[in-house]
Amino acid sequence: MLLIRLYREIIKILKKDDNSLGIFKVRTEEKILDKFVIRGGKPLHGEVTISGAKNAAVAIVTAAILCDEPCIIENVPDISDIAICLEIFRQMRADVRLINKNTVRIDTKNISVPSVPYDLARSMRASSYFLGTLLGRFHEALVALPGGCDLGDRPIDQHLKAFKALGASDIMENGSVHIKADELIGNQIYFDFITVGGTINAIFAAVKAKGYTVIENAAKEPHIVDVANFLNSMGADIRGAGTDVIKIRGVDYLKGITYPVIPDQIEAGTYMVAAAATRGNVLIKNVIPKHLESITAKLRNIGVSVEEFDESVRVRADSGGIFLKTNIRTMPHPGFPTDMQPQMSTLLTLAEGTSTVYDDIFDNRFRYVSELRRMGADISVDGKVAVIHGGRLTGAPVKATDLRAGAAMIIAGLAASGVTEISDIYHIERGYEAIEEKLKAIGADIQRVYVPSGSDMAISV
Ligand code: EPZ
Repeated sequence: MLLIRLYREIIKILKKDDNSLGIFKVRTEEKILDKFVIRGGKPLHGEVTISGAKNAAVAIVTAAILCDEPCIIENVPDISDIAICLEIFRQMRADVRLINKNTVRIDTKNISVPSVPYDLARSMRASSYFLGTLLGRFHEALVALPGGCDLGDRPIDQHLKAFKALGASDIMENGSVHIKADELIGNQIYFDFITVGGTINAIFAAVKAKGYTVIENAAKEPHIVDVANFLNSMGADIRGAGTDVIKIRGVDYLKGITYPVIPDQIEAGTYMVAAAATRGNVLIKNVIPKHLESITAKLRNIGVSVEEFDESVRVRADSGGIFLKTNIRTMPHPGFPTDMQPQMSTLLTLAEGTSTVYDDIFDNRFRYVSELRRMGADISVDGKVAVIHGGRLTGAPVKATDLRAGAAMIIAGLAASGVTEISDIYHIERGYEAIEEKLKAIGADIQRVYVPSGSDMAISV
């Protein structure tokens, strides 16, 4: 119910000044109950263009706080997590202007109070980046404990460990983390385990600290490299991003730049799996094939054809061959990404034989399995392992239990015979730009059904 309250909060703001965020509008509350209705069994054919990477963009947009001049960020995906970040900036008195659908100019010079509006901050995981950026600039930050997809417990102890290593102290105040430092001094930071957000927040806190910081056991995801490239373009001194040791020499000033966000490896992987599951033939454009290597390898194991070009991949499963069983173990990059686990598990429900999927990155990333079972999937979960006996899927009413689980429900609906109705699609809109338009353009029979709040009437469009 929190999200509905949150959307109502944002609607109040947007109605006050409707042009504030232009196209980056969070879906109005009338849309909170929207559903997707999919008539499955149609192979996907054609071309789809991938948007900017959500998990890079939320960090890079927030990093504008560290910039001493206005900066322009391009290839920003039009998704609700970004809309929330920009609304947080507006409420903190930053100047946010949309140059076009996916380009935003941010000037944070007028931010004076290093505190983030509570309800907006607790609605997503990425709000934790306001801790690192506000601390890096103001030596203080007050941010609600972050929310985000319900994947089990998601503490930020490693983030706080990094901040403490640089001289900060933290206390919990009414559900918010309050961190302060007289000054930030470079130091060695050793993460107990690999954490994407912790690595990015350590970079944010160190980039203007006095002296030299070494981050050990760092995460190596493509979006960490993108964040480092963005900051280095502004004049930061960050070396080793993309390896497990990142070295940072603090600087005093970061100049304004124009910077394009990298393509989204998980959005690309999602469309690759959708093309395979529907036995289609799709060219997926605006990708970095190297970021997709683990996904490509697994699809080829299953018997799917993946052809790599400079900035695109073609996925084909229209030869009529069977899908072969395989085993998946999610790992930090460059291993198989946990954010592709629900989508790949869905494909494996169509494979011959028994496959296993092991995912221990989060406490519980299998909540979607009970929804897949409604569609006839023979899948069981024992702790961190799902065991999948391949078969067929038939349409059913299901829920999106989180962002990537919602994407998996779409893939299941596209592959199933009959009609699938997916509710709680606001989860999906957090991370996939214009997903229904992109799918329709490659042959999917998908309709958004508006369910105006307070009525039980569904209006299909
Ligand atoms: C980022 O989450 C992504 N979110 C997630 O994507 C992604 O699944 C995850 O990285 C792993 O790749 C964003 O970038 C906004 P972690 P993050 O810190 O930073 C535990 C999606 O679908 N942990 O690498 O939260 C944590 O609970 C989303 O796009 C601690 O215990 O991931 C988890 O079990 C979902 N203490 C594990 O480590 C900490 O201080 C990995 O978390 C930090 C993390």
